[in-house]
Amino acid sequence: MPILLGIVGALILFFSIVLLRGAPYLPTLTKQVETALDLVDLKPGDTLLELGCGDGKVLIAAAKRGWNVVGYELNPLLALIAWLRTLKYKGHVRVVWGDFWNKQWPPHQAIFVFLLDPFMQKLDTKIIQSSSKPVKLVSFAFQIPSRKPKASKDGLFVYEYK
Ligand SMILES: C[S@@+](CC[C@H](N)C(=O)[O-])C[C@H]1O[C@@H](n2cnc3c(N)ncnc32)[C@H](O)[C@@H]1O
Repeated sequence: MPILLGIVGALILFFSIVLLRGAPYLPTLTKQVETALDLVDLKPGDTLLELGCGDGKVLIAAAKRGWNVVGYELNPLLALIAWLRTLKYKGHVRVVWGDFWNKQWPPHQAIFVFLLDPFMQKLDTKIIQSSSKPVKLVSFAFQIPSRKPKASKDGLFVYEYK
């Protein structure tokens, strides 16, 4: 019984602590994942960052297009699942367990996020400070308050930083 309570407690902690640093886990629908990647429109060998990669669904779809992709995930259980699911694409995918706000981002051409409203302006500042330009941001569901999207489709918003 104490072990079970410990496991349940750890799971509640893993899934709730991220609320202080970003959105809770909710996977993007498959149709929107493919639309997001179409909008990102990278070349094989380019790098996509996914800030909060959940179970690795987007990482796999991006790797299948021949892109390199780095996914950050704060929840250790989801980071482990994403890492296991993407082992097959090891040359293309890197899963980093940790808080993407505090990480040094590698060079990249695009970013995908599914966050929450309260984090979108902070994300804009972080991209201005940390991204190599030009870089494209595709955000599912939430917009950056201070910017006009370059395009939008199926609930996805595209921004370009030059
Ligand atoms: C709404 S889910 C989206 C998952 C995935 N990107 C998708 O679209 O299917 C947000 C994910 O971001 C993770 N997350 C939230 N804040 C984070 C942070 N500061 N650093 C790393 N991961 C974070 C959550 O644990 C969750 O898995």
